[in-house]
Amino acid sequence: MLSPMDRTVKEVDNYEVVASFYDYLMRHVQYRRWYRFVVNVLKRHNLHEGKLLEMACGTGNMLMHFAKAGWQCVGVDKSQAMLNVAAAKLADNKNRVELICGDMRDQRIYGNFSAVICLYDSINYCMGESALHDALQNMINNLDSGGVFIFDICTINNCRQNFHNYSEKEVFQNKEYTRKATFDPFTHQQINEFWINTIPAEHVVLHERHVQQIFRISQVDEIVKDIGSCEIAGIYENYTRRPGSEKSDRVHFIIIKS
Ligand SMILES: C[S@@+](CC[C@H](N)C(=O)[O-])C[C@H]1O[C@@H](n2cnc3c(N)ncnc32)[C@H](O)[C@@H]1O
Repeated sequence: MLSPMDRTVKEVDNYEVVASFYDYLMRHVQYRRWYRFVVNVLKRHNLHEGKLLEMACGTGNMLMHFAKAGWQCVGVDKSQAMLNVAAAKLADNKNRVELICGDMRDQRIYGNFSAVICLYDSINYCMGESALHDALQNMINNLDSGGVFIFDICTINNCRQNFHNYSEKEVFQNKEYTRKATFDPFTHQQINEFWINTIPAEHVVLHERHVQQIFRISQVDEIVKDIGSCEIAGIYENYTRRPGSEKSDRVHFIIIKS
């Protein structure tokens, strides 16, 4: 048996290895409930079907619901490993879903969409206001006039309460991973680190370090207003229509393109 001293740590890109157990890591997330929340918001804005862009689509859990409901979807993600998992999951719906490797901060038009979504803290991978501005601008640019853009942010409160000095160790299939989460109250950065071993243990431990910037609602609000050509139709707490606040764990922004 190898002792920790015999092992070397190799840095890998975000999600390069985590992709293989991402759905297990997120097994507590109720994607169906989340989908219903999103679809109800879209319906309230008279969108029942059409073209949807999901930015940072990950392993395709949300795309799956939209494709099955008849939406024509494009899923974009920076991680090819995450997209590979999504492609396998969406194989039966591939006529309804196109998956593209891309960066949300790049100004790139993927088509004309009646709905754009970017969920589950993905926007928090924008490190700083300038990157956030670019990402939001790009997503708004991909929307048709009257189209709806829904994204969420994780709050400082959520990070402080649930993701500071948090750790877990799990085994999934042939991998054992340790996750450690810390929140820096000064920089407002959320850091999630993963150390991943294969079973049986090899000499190399793979390491992913994820850094996310946690923004205040007022910061995001100002950036959206600065971008213009859209209006904020709602800022909701979690999966409800209650007003979102810094006390919420998660806040959804609902944006309508002019
Ligand atoms: C927490 S996961 C969320 C995935 C998916 N939205 C979900 O709900 O499960 C964050 C995703 O954001 C993607 N991501 C991070 N930075 C990105 C960027 N600059 N452009 C596009 N995708 C990015 C990651 O590759 C990852 O798939």
